[in-house]
Amino acid sequence: MLLVKNGTVVTADQTRRADVLCDGGLIRAVGEGLAAEAPAGAEVIDAGGQLVMPGGIDPHTHMQLPFMGTVASEDFYTGTAAGLAGGTTMIIDFVIPAPEQPLMEAYRQWREWAEKAAADYSFHVAVTWWDDSVHKDMGTLVRECGVNSFKHFMAYKNAIMVDDEILFRSFTRAWELGAIATVHAENGDVVFQLQQELLARGITGPEGHPLSRPPEVEGEATNRAIRIAQVLGVPVYIVHVSARESLQAITRARSEGQRVFGEALAGHLVVDDSVYWSDDKEFAAAHVMSPPFRPKHHQDALWHGLQSGNLQTTATDHCCFCADQKAMGRDDFTRIPNGTGGIENRMEILWDEGVNKGRLTMNEFVRVTSANTAQIFNIYPRKGAIAAGSDADLVVWDPAATKTISAKTHRHNVDFNIFEGRTVTGCASHTVSGGKVVFANGDLRAENGAGRYVDRPSFQSTALGDALARRAERKTPAPRKR
Ligand code: URP
Ligand code: ZN
Ligand code: ZN
Repeated sequence: MLLVKNGTVVTADQTRRADVLCDGGLIRAVGEGLAAEAPAGAEVIDAGGQLVMPGGIDPHTHMQLPFMGTVASEDFYTGTAAGLAGGTTMIIDFVIPAPEQPLMEAYRQWREWAEKAAADYSFHVAVTWWDDSVHKDMGTLVRECGVNSFKHFMAYKNAIMVDDEILFRSFTRAWELGAIATVHAENGDVVFQLQQELLARGITGPEGHPLSRPPEVEGEATNRAIRIAQVLGVPVYIVHVSARESLQAITRARSEGQRVFGEALAGHLVVDDSVYWSDDKEFAAAHVMSPPFRPKHHQDALWHGLQSGNLQTTATDHCCFCADQKAMGRDDFTRIPNGTGGIENRMEILWDEGVNKGRLTMNEFVRVTSANTAQIFNIYPRKGAIAAGSDADLVVWDPAATKTISAKTHRHNVDFNIFEGRTVTGCASHTVSGGKVVFANGDLRAENGAGRYVDRPSFQSTALGDALARRAERKTPAPRKR
């Protein structure tokens, strides 16, 4: 049994002085004076002067992802452990089948890799190609494997990019199954053309990366994905929104009543595109990710998106590659493995730049770091809440603690940190995962394999879902609004 006492509990909808009593991996009670209910010998965290919030959920990570000819350096143990050190107690990672690879085979592969996770995890599954087996496997994933979201890459041409026909087919299937479509929205054909043009002009360095992926290609693809989803009435979630243009498309659709969600990355909120023009090419390559970091005015737009509720979640897209891996693209920016890290730092960046700067209230901080993700992906209030019956995933947050972020001290298994040198005020003092204290005042006690796979049910009730799925297998459904 664990008692977190004397803290101020902050959730998405309230702030109050309360103790939190945990037992058997769950929260048993939340209220004042719970010390009397804790048996002698119960473990105690004194959270006096601190905040007690739901553990963070990072809805977008890529641990040990095979990508662009190499494999991301962070595995499911090291990555989730780093998350725990920063107050993140759950990730939603991505199963990304190679083209023609059966979805179920890829899903099983990722489940095996994730067995060593130190924190809870779940999977979005990417649709990277199409045939009848993909249609069938999507059904199996939703009905039997706890998957309720499918990912689509509109970029990475000649690799995992899908065209509009596949978007249409997969969105239709997601709708039938009560799943949500998620999208990496960049126009991959335009990116490819720009890449060829830049290379032909002799632009081979990392600055070619943002030049080949201007905000317009993101805005166009975001709008296209949203409009295709509108035709079908399927909810759609746009990952790593980095540009004002894509936020505009999301905002418009939401104002017209469409069920569209958007995710901002901690990196896109604070890092700008000047990094790509550094004389230090290794430094510039370390920042290569897609979509790229943007000119500063896009950061203001993203903050406004979070403040207005048009963007609901924050993530990291944690996808780490070390300098020797980034060097694969030394002579050709299109070969630099795309990805950057940040899972340990997301919460502290959001707090420091969001709450400390008056952009977010504490409750909004909880919404965008856990509660909204839990609701959008249908695991609320098991996750993202502090209530009797919820999983005992908590972060005890010291709003006065300061820390300077550095690759020399971070727990990420990578040699670079995009937040290098930033001093943040407000950090996790303790992290509780499944009722266990896994981080305490700098002491990381992450346990290999302690994380559990989290089923995410379909958005339809089982009976309705089965009926709809059976009907859908007989005939194509008419487009309709949810
Ligand atoms: O550059 C990135 N974001 N790498 C990971 C794959 C993706 O696009 O999310
Ligand atoms: Zn992406
Ligand atoms: Zn990603």
